[in-house]
Formats: sequence, structure tokens, C-alpha cells
Amino acid sequence: MTSLPTLQIGQHIARYPIIQGGMGIRVSGARLAAAVANAGGIGVIAAVALGLNSPYFDRTERNVSRRKEQFFAANRLALIDEIQMARRLSPAGILGINAMVAANDYETLVRTAAEQGINVIISGAGLPMQLPGLTADYPDVALVPVISSTRAARLICRKWERQYGRLPDAFVVENPNSAGGHLGAKWEELDNQIPQAEQIIPELVTYLREELGQPIPIIAAGGVWDRRDIDRMLALGASGVQMGTRFITTDECDADIRYKEFHLQAKPEDVVIVPSPVGLPGRALRNGFVERAIANDPTIERRCIVSCLHTCKCRDEQQNYCIIQALDNAARGDVENGLIFSGSNAGRAERILPVAELMAELVAPSP
Ligand SMILES: Cc1cc2nc3c(=O)[nH]c(=O)nc-3n(C[C@H](O)[C@H](O)[C@H](O)COP(=O)(O)O)c2cc1C
Repeated sequence: MTSLPTLQIGQHIARYPIIQGGMGIRVSGARLAAAVANAGGIGVIAAVALGLNSPYFDRTERNVSRRKEQFFAANRLALIDEIQMARRLSPAGILGINAMVAANDYETLVRTAAEQGINVIISGAGLPMQLPGLTADYPDVALVPVISSTRAARLICRKWERQYGRLPDAFVVENPNSAGGHLGAKWEELDNQIPQAEQIIPELVTYLREELGQPIPIIAAGGVWDRRDIDRMLALGASGVQMGTRFITTDECDADIRYKEFHLQAKPEDVVIVPSPVGLPGRALRNGFVERAIANDPTIERRCIVSCLHTCKCRDEQQNYCIIQALDNAARGDVENGLIFSGSNAGRAERILPVAELMAELVAPSP
């Protein structure tokens, strides 16, 4: 394939079929999303817990209910700031947010993003069954669930059609064998029971075209690194790709420089599976924190700071660690005491480069 096709999601048409995956906390913020949107892709702000590291939240507040109230209010205000900044940086680009169903303020964040004129909402970490209801007043917002199986697609399509008379504008199909972040699979399935993209994408295409009768675009996520990977996913029937890890080692990535350098220095064998209080395994880079988390080291702090999730093993069972604290530590540059999520391709980046250069490389014809 020489030139890549455009990608239409709802009424939005991106010049290139590349979505930059939402990466929390503050790994993909306004700067990264706007840079990707300006370069012809779809830029995505991770909406999770933006308030934690914002002027609207005081970590030292000792009264627990006041702290929680302030945190959720801060998340909303910080999301508004982030979307407005991204829009200033990319007036005409396609911008999205990633919102996790598992978060306690999911509904508020989705509504806020729609009010703020976001173009696309990508939503995973649970099935986004209520999403069309939350954005009903904003029909131009494209809605994109993240799934890892045809079964999940079927459940969402049935429910959305029955209850809201609409279907998703696209599906992100995330491959738990290679994606970074929380994985849509059980720990014990990760070894060999998960179908590869070669199986799941054609299966989903068949379901959407033949059973549902709707050619909903499929976006392949997990382990996509270069133009050859993009071509491979398109050949399987995907309409585009979502890439996370590759965008971390860019100038515009919103994480601290030490986070990017940690990624740069990583080797493929540093990529490990780590338990998370969310109850799902995650893929991350090995560091002191991850080793302690895997070993279930009792010295890890297990204090719930704001009750951010519907179910959380840290809050409910004093297990694992506080996920937002761990992700925030890392993104702010504490790479020994933070959780550095990463896809299986870590170790392949050679330098930190501008997004425009990376996008130009990704869309150039494969040799
Ligand atoms: C650091 C990091 C943070 C992530 N955070 C989120 C998130 O907040 N919500 C989400 O749905 N996916 C999240 N993901 C998954 C990405 O959006 C994307 O689907 C995934 O990284 C694709 O795999 P790749 O990293 O191999 O390209 C995260 C991934 C990484 C690497």
C-alpha cells in the first residue's frame, strides 16, 4: 500500500487512520493530543484523574469527604482546561478524550467533554453501556467503545440499538497480548488463550458486516509500532490503528522527561505484567515499584486517597497499591516509585522526536 486511507469516525474525517491512544495520568494531555491532531491523526486526552495534579486540588486536605469532593470537582475543571488548551493548540484538528467506565466520575467527565465540544469519546475499562444517553444532547460527538472481543461488541450494539437507537461510530479493538496499560483479559488468559489480531479483527468485521449489517470502522490497538504494522492491521480489515507506547517518546508527550527517558532506555525484557487494584492485569516497565507490586511487598503504601474507582482492591481490601498515586508519581518523573505503563514494543524507540516527524515516518510508504 502506498498512501494510507483517511479515517472517518462519525462525521469526522482524519487525514490519516491513526489515533493516539489516551494515556493516563497526564501522559497524553493537551500537548500530545493537539500535536497528533495537527499532524492529521486523532489526538486523545486521557481524562482520568486530571485533577490530582492541578491547581484545583489540595493533596494535604485531611478531611476525607472534603478531599473527595474537591478531587472530583478538580477533575472536571482540569479536564475543561485541558480540552480548551488542546483546542487552542489545534483549532481545526480532531480531538478526543479517553474516559474509563470504571472511574467514579465517568458520567461527569463524559458530559463535560461533550459540552466542551470534544469530537470523539473513546471509552473502555468496562463496557460503556450508558454512553449514548450521556451525550444525547451532542449528536456530533463520535462514540467509540474499547473492546477486546466480538462478544463485547455484540452486547454493546444490541443495548445501544435497543435503548438509544444508535450504534457506535467505531470500535477500538485492543489486543491484550501487546497493549500497554490495563488489559481486557484475565491474568490466567494472558499466556496463550487470547486470540491474536489475525483472528479477532476478521471475526469482528464479519460480525459487523454480515450479522449486524453495519460496516462500523474497527481500530486496531496494541503492539502497533510502524507503517508495516499499520498496513498489516488494514489488510486484516481494520480501518485504522490506535497507538499508545510509540507516542510516549515524543517531545510533545505530556509526561516528565524522566518518564520518556525511562522508556527510551527500556529493553524488551523489561516489559512485565503487573497486578492492579482495578482487578485487571496491566502491562508496564519493570522498576523498583513494579517489583514490589509483583512481590506484594507489605511496605507499599495502601492508602486510598480519593476513592476514584467503582471497585478498587486498594480501597476495599487493602491490596496492591493506589493506582492513581502510582501513575501520577511516574508521569511526574518519579520513575522508581511510579507505575510506568507500556506496550510490548518498549525498547524499540531510538530517540525522543517531534510528533510531526513521527507521523511523517508512520505514513511514509513502507519499504
Ligand atoms: C502509559 C499508558 C497509559 C494508558 N492509559 C490508558 C487510559 O487511561 N485509558 C485507556 O483506555 N487506555 C489506556 N492505555 C492504552 C492506550 O490507550 C492504547 O490503547 C495502548 O497503549 C495501545 O497499545 P500500544 O501501547 O502497544 O500502542 C494506556 C497505555 C499506556 C502505554
